[in-house]
Amino acid sequence: MIRVLFVCLGNICRSPTAEGVFRDLVAREGLSDKIETDSCGTSGWHRGDPPDRRACQEAKRRGIMIDDLKSRETRDSDFKDFDFIIAMDTNNFDTLTAMSPAKHSDKIHMFLSFAPNVGETEVPDPYYGGDGGFANVFDMIDAASNGLLAHIRDTHL
Ligand code: 4NP
Repeated sequence: MIRVLFVCLGNICRSPTAEGVFRDLVAREGLSDKIETDSCGTSGWHRGDPPDRRACQEAKRRGIMIDDLKSRETRDSDFKDFDFIIAMDTNNFDTLTAMSPAKHSDKIHMFLSFAPNVGETEVPDPYYGGDGGFANVFDMIDAASNGLLAHIRDTHL
């Protein structure tokens, strides 16, 4: 089993959207028995909360259900348990790198490194922005999910 963990700050906007989009892609490709997904936040501010209503609405509009997900904070065992630890922005990446045992730090990647065509390095935090931010974030996540799955196929399957 290949385990993929998506990480943002609150685990209520970007990373649950990424988990939902990637989980749907994996299922459509018939790979659910080979690839497992999860998400978490570098903060515990929203522990136990479902995704932000605006993230749920944007996902639903694109045919993806994420209402079942619940926020949790990153834990030490994540660095051992997961094969890919995917940061949404540089702040998340730096927090993860500081937390990770050195032997696992090569598991940590910036999500948009799998979507060079997007032309950005970070998935921006949409929490304080308008609803348009969620559509933009969804498009980035969709592109990077496809790139990440292609990378996993090339290197692990
Ligand atoms: P996320 O967005 O990291 O994409 O889940 C945020 C959610 C909540 C907060 C910040 C970002 N917050 O400050 O509570």
